Amino acid sequence: MTPSPLPIAVLISGTGSNLQTLLESPGHGIDYVISLVVSDRPGARGLERATQAGVATKVVSWDDFGSRTEFTEALCETAKAAGAGALVLAGFMRILAPIAMERFPNAIINVHPALLPAFPGAHAVEAAIGYGVTLTGVTVHFVDEQVDHGPIILQEAVAVRPDDDAESLHSRIQAVEHRVLPEVVSAFSRGELTVQGRYVRWDHTPREATIR
Ligand code: GRF
Repeated sequence: MTPSPLPIAVLISGTGSNLQTLLESPGHGIDYVISLVVSDRPGARGLERATQAGVATKVVSWDDFGSRTEFTEALCETAKAAGAGALVLAGFMRILAPIAMERFPNAIINVHPALLPAFPGAHAVEAAIGYGVTLTGVTVHFVDEQVDHGPIILQEAVAVRPDDDAESLHSRIQAVEHRVLPEVVSAFSRGELTVQGRYVRWDHTPREATIR
């Protein structure tokens, strides 16, 4: 029996290049299907990408809500209404309230442009250059109640070159993001990831053996 793809909602705030790779990955339509793209910003370029791919979009604007919890509740409701069983944060620049982890337990995935726990926050690439590290990278992790903190699924290093600026380094980091994020989302959707405390076990089960 071939399992049906897991419906997911992708949350964005901007360009949406990671969204694009999720849309174009061979796993889309097989392991997972993007049932909705949600942006907290009306003009986000990623919304156009979704529309071009025939995927439904919604804007849940931060300014329309009185608190982080209300904003998060609305986001989760919107995603649930679209049938989503997981959230993927792909350049989503808002912090979710803990209610999101109750609605989607161990089912919210974030991609961060540094090797956590180094350089959490919104300016990780600039911070890595400013600190003078020679190695940074990409972290894909489950989201928990703290910012850029949850159990780590996958990390990959990217070397910092002496002549790098934030733009050149970020573009090499993004090349890695674009490769690994769809792999992780596919693995999650196939039921291969199990959270055990701070650790994530990744069982590379053959797809034929997976029954949802
Ligand atoms: C990515 O580098 C991601 O790691 C960070 O925000 C950036 C989003 O890029 N959280 P894009 O919108 O997917 O192009």
